[in-house]
Amino acid sequence: MVKLNGKKKLNVCIFISGRGTNLKSIIDFSKEKESPIKIDLVITNNKNAKGINFAKKNNIKYIYINYKNVDKAEDKIIIILKKHNIDFICLAGFMKILSNKIINIYKNKILNIHPSLLPRYKGLNTHKRVIKNKEKFTGCTVHLVNEKLDSGKIILQKKVRILKKDSEISLSKKVLKIENKIYPKAIKKFVNSNL
Ligand code: GAR
Repeated sequence: MVKLNGKKKLNVCIFISGRGTNLKSIIDFSKEKESPIKIDLVITNNKNAKGINFAKKNNIKYIYINYKNVDKAEDKIIIILKKHNIDFICLAGFMKILSNKIINIYKNKILNIHPSLLPRYKGLNTHKRVIKNKEKFTGCTVHLVNEKLDSGKIILQKKVRILKKDSEISLSKKVLKIENKIYPKAIKKFVNSNL
């Protein structure tokens, strides 16, 4: 649970690995007058992540963490998060799995976005699998991170209809647009709720 408790804004750290459209939508949200968050930091495991440019443009500090040794990487991350007084974390296309070490310290304070209607289609290549299975609907989900992959409490979910003509690419574009819309809404719902 995260509460403002008299604070003006909550300090958020966003984790990314790539393109960063969800990071961008959260940055835009943080700039709204009534937004309850300030993005203090961006962490990436990928030096070449395109999303870093959104941090640069908005004068948000970003840190690259070398993930060759996961244990050491996570120890570094924990030190950094504490130093920055991070209230909660948003995973936004972060393609590494966090260990219990971090999850336990930030229990119920880590959000993730996943491109499917969880609990269906956990893991990778969701769009490919839903098309292969001739599903009529897919969607995206913002959820709390727990020790099991893509399994924490659901904060917000939105359905997307799959058309016969949809390919993996067209579907991923459609879903991504919705992802970018629901992530800020999910953050709003999460802050000051009893989740
Ligand atoms: C998004 O589709 C997100 O749901 C997915 O990576 C993409 C990142 O896009 N995340 C996962 O698959 C995590 N399991 P972005 O870098 O443009 O935000």
